[in-house]
Amino acid sequence: MGRADGAQGNGRGKATVKRDPVSKSWRKQEMKRRDMLKLAAIGAALLTTTALLTSGNAYAQDKKWKIGFSQVTTIEPWRAQFNKDILAEAAKHPDIELIVTDGEDKTEKQVADVENLIRQEVDALLVSPKESAGLSGVVQQAVDAKIPVFVLDRNVETQDYTQFVGGDNKLIGRAAGEYAVELLGGKGKAAGNVVEIWGGMGTQPAHDRSNGFHEVTDKEPGIKYLLDKQSGDWKQDQAYNIMATALRNNEKIDLVYGHNDPMAYGAYLAAKDVGREKEIKFIGIDGLPNEGVTLVNNGELTATFTYVTPGAEGLRQAIKFLNGEKVEKTITLPTQKITKENSAQILKDNGL
Ligand code: FRU
Repeated sequence: MGRADGAQGNGRGKATVKRDPVSKSWRKQEMKRRDMLKLAAIGAALLTTTALLTSGNAYAQDKKWKIGFSQVTTIEPWRAQFNKDILAEAAKHPDIELIVTDGEDKTEKQVADVENLIRQEVDALLVSPKESAGLSGVVQQAVDAKIPVFVLDRNVETQDYTQFVGGDNKLIGRAAGEYAVELLGGKGKAAGNVVEIWGGMGTQPAHDRSNGFHEVTDKEPGIKYLLDKQSGDWKQDQAYNIMATALRNNEKIDLVYGHNDPMAYGAYLAAKDVGREKEIKFIGIDGLPNEGVTLVNNGELTATFTYVTPGAEGLRQAIKFLNGEKVEKTITLPTQKITKENSAQILKDNGL
């Protein structure tokens, strides 16, 4: 069984991982180090009591790979699902130890988490960053310490990682744009006032979701944009406030494009609170069955697009790599449009 712990406190400071760069492979060296640890543990157990064999230490030493996962936050529904997915995958691999940390939605905390995982000499590091710039340095630090790094969902500003696993946000943005055009009257005829609520400005998904959308909607002269790049930082309450102001300032709003479902729903709630939700279409992204799909099925959101969490795939890829197989530089996860037409079926398929 994989194990999920909080960040394990080894104190702060610079990473002190030392591996001989001229040895045949660091992995062999690592195996040797682990074998020695195992022998030491067996010796200690023989000298003391058998209780040590069932203690946490002995448990960890039985594992072939120690994998660290630095998650940005656990409060958003999509992040909670992401952690659930990675833990479910970990449970299928009894030979790995998985350490999951929570960055509490703060760059500084997440940087400290990654530094801590480097100090713990994890065999592989999975990281889903708060934002690109702030996490790039520490990811590079892990790469320099010869730890294979798997970047999940949001990217960093270095290409030196082993693999990126995530959805194609540009494509999702385009699909959202195409649906918005359809809802506003169709290609060449679309007209209406659009509110776009951005995710975190320092993240690539937000930029890609916006660029993809505009690639399509900017071709429609009848579409007007009411806000200039306002970010709700992926949060429902912030999107609520942005939308409440937009509603006060604009008599006519036809469509809201939220970069994720919590923000699209926050905008919906703001419109509902002033009795205007029926005049507006709401499009979001994430499409979790118990969140976005349910909101679509209830008629609260008009559409959402699935953004599969990279939890399971990311861990599978890391294990594959640690076991000596080649992995691709990028793995792109699929998406699906969800509207009232397929929402009930999707809920049924998910036992909801
Ligand atoms: C959760 C989240 C998702 C979104 C993803 C983008 O933190 O905001 O809702 O799809 O991150 O990186």
